[in-house]
Amino acid sequence: MDSLKEKFAKKAVAENESVKQFIAQHGETIIGEYSVAQVYQGMRGMTGLVTETSKLDPEEGIRFRGYSIPELRAQLPKAPGGSEPLPEGIFYLMLMGELPTTEDVNSITNNWARRSIVPRHVFDTLDSLPMNTHPMTEFSIGVMAMQTESLFAAAYRKGINKKEYWDYVYEDSMNLIARLPRVAAYIYRRKYKNNEHIEPDPKLDWAANMAHMMGYDVYDVQRLMRLYLTIHCDHEGGNVSAHTTHLVGSALSDPYLSFAAGMNGLAGPLHGLANQEVIAWIMELRKELGGGLPTKEQIADYIKKTLAEGRVVPGYGHAVLRKTDPRFSAQQDFYKRYIKHDDLCEIVQMIYEVAPPILQGTGKIKNPWPNVDAHSGALLVHYGIVEYDFYTVLFGVSRALGVLASLIWDRALGLPIERPGSNTTEGLMKKLATVKQK
Ligand SMILES: CC(C)(COP(=O)(O)OP(=O)(O)OC[C@H]1O[C@@H](n2cnc3c(N)ncnc32)[C@H](O)[C@@H]1OP(=O)(O)O)[C@@H](O)C(=O)NCCC(=O)NCCS
Repeated sequence: MDSLKEKFAKKAVAENESVKQFIAQHGETIIGEYSVAQVYQGMRGMTGLVTETSKLDPEEGIRFRGYSIPELRAQLPKAPGGSEPLPEGIFYLMLMGELPTTEDVNSITNNWARRSIVPRHVFDTLDSLPMNTHPMTEFSIGVMAMQTESLFAAAYRKGINKKEYWDYVYEDSMNLIARLPRVAAYIYRRKYKNNEHIEPDPKLDWAANMAHMMGYDVYDVQRLMRLYLTIHCDHEGGNVSAHTTHLVGSALSDPYLSFAAGMNGLAGPLHGLANQEVIAWIMELRKELGGGLPTKEQIADYIKKTLAEGRVVPGYGHAVLRKTDPRFSAQQDFYKRYIKHDDLCEIVQMIYEVAPPILQGTGKIKNPWPNVDAHSGALLVHYGIVEYDFYTVLFGVSRALGVLASLIWDRALGLPIERPGSNTTEGLMKKLATVKQK
C-alpha cells in the first residue's frame, strides 16, 4: 500500500466513526427551511450535500480545509526555486485535511509519475474524432475510453465487500489524475500543433509536465500552470461539475464514468466554458473597435450592448459568491507580480473597474463581481496559449483533484445513492393549499 493510502485509511476509519456518532446524536436536528422559490431556482442556498474538501463563503470566497487561497499560496510546498504552490499539495490537503510537507508532495509527484502511462487505445479513440470536435468533448471521450482501466469496475464485477470500495476508488482516482495531463496535452497538440506529440518528462512535477507536454518548456508557463491547476481544483460540492461527479459516483459508477459526467457539466458556458467565452467576448470587443486598448466608455457601451442583446457578461456573477472571487484576485496578483504589462490583462482590469456598477444597475444580477473565469484566459494568451477552445480542458484537469478527492471520501464514508425528492407544480400547489387551510 502506498504511504498516502495508508495514512488515508487510518484517517478514514476515525472520520467514519465520528460521522456515525454525529448522525446518531444529531440525525433528527433540523438545519434549515426552504421555500418554493428555491425549489424552482436551482436549489440555491439549500444545504443538501456533505463535501469535505472545501467550503465556499459568499462574502469571503473559497477555503480548502479551512485555508484561503492567499494562505495556500504562502504555505503549500513549492517546486525548488518556485514561487507558486504545487497542485499535488492541495490534493493532499483536500484528501487528508492537513497541510502536506515537501516530502508528502514529492511523494505524490512520484506516485503520479509511476501511474501516468495512458493506454494506446485512448489515443486511437481520440485520433478517430473529427478535427472540429470541441476539446472538452474530446476530453470527456478520452476519459471514457480510459474506463477500460477501472479497477473499481473490475473488482465490483467480481464481488467486493462494501468496506473495500474506497480502496479501488482511490486507485482509480490516482491513476486518472496521473494520466489526465497526457490526455489533455494530446488533445491540444493534435488539434493545434500539427498532431506532433511530446512525451512526458518523469523528472517534472504534475503541472510542469502539463506545460511541457503542451510544448511550453519555459519557467513562466510552469509557474502559471502550477497556480492555475491549484486554484481551479474545487469550489465546494454543489457546483455542476462537483455535484455531478458525486451524484454519478453515488450509483457506484466508477471514477472514470463519474468524472467524465462531471466534465460534461464543466463544458457548459454558465460553468467552466465561461473562461473561453470571456476571451472570445473581449476579442469581439477589440475587433469591433479595430484593436488596441479600448477606453472605459467603450467597454461600458459594449457591456450595455451585451446585456441589451439578452446575453450574459461572461466571467461575472456567481450562484453563491457575493464579492470578487479570490481566484480572480490571485490571478490579478500573478499578473501584477510577474507580467506587469499586457494589453489583454489591462483590458481585464478595466472591465473590473467598469462592469460591476453596470451589472448592479440592472437590479437583478445578485453578484456583479468577477469570478475565476474573468482572468484566466488573459494570462494564458499572454504566454502564447491562444487556443481558447482548449481552456476548459485545463480547468477540467485541475477540477479532477477536488472532485476525485471527494469521491474517495464519499466511498470511505459509505455515502448512499443520492435520490432527492421531486414534485410536480400541481403537487406543490395542492400541498401549499393544504398548508394554508391548516
Ligand atoms: C454564474 C451564473 C450562472 C450564476 O447564475 P445565477 O445564480 O442564476 O445568478 P443570479 O441569481 O445573479 O441571476 C439573476 C439574473 O441575472 C442574470 N445574470 C447573472 N449574471 C449575469 C451576467 N454575468 N451577465 C448578465 N446577466 C447575468 C441571470 O441570467 C438572471 O437573469 P434572469 O432573471 O433573466 O434569468 C451567472 O452569474 C452567469 O451566467 N454568469 C456569466 C457566466 C459565468 O461567468 N459563469 C462562470 C461562473 S464561475
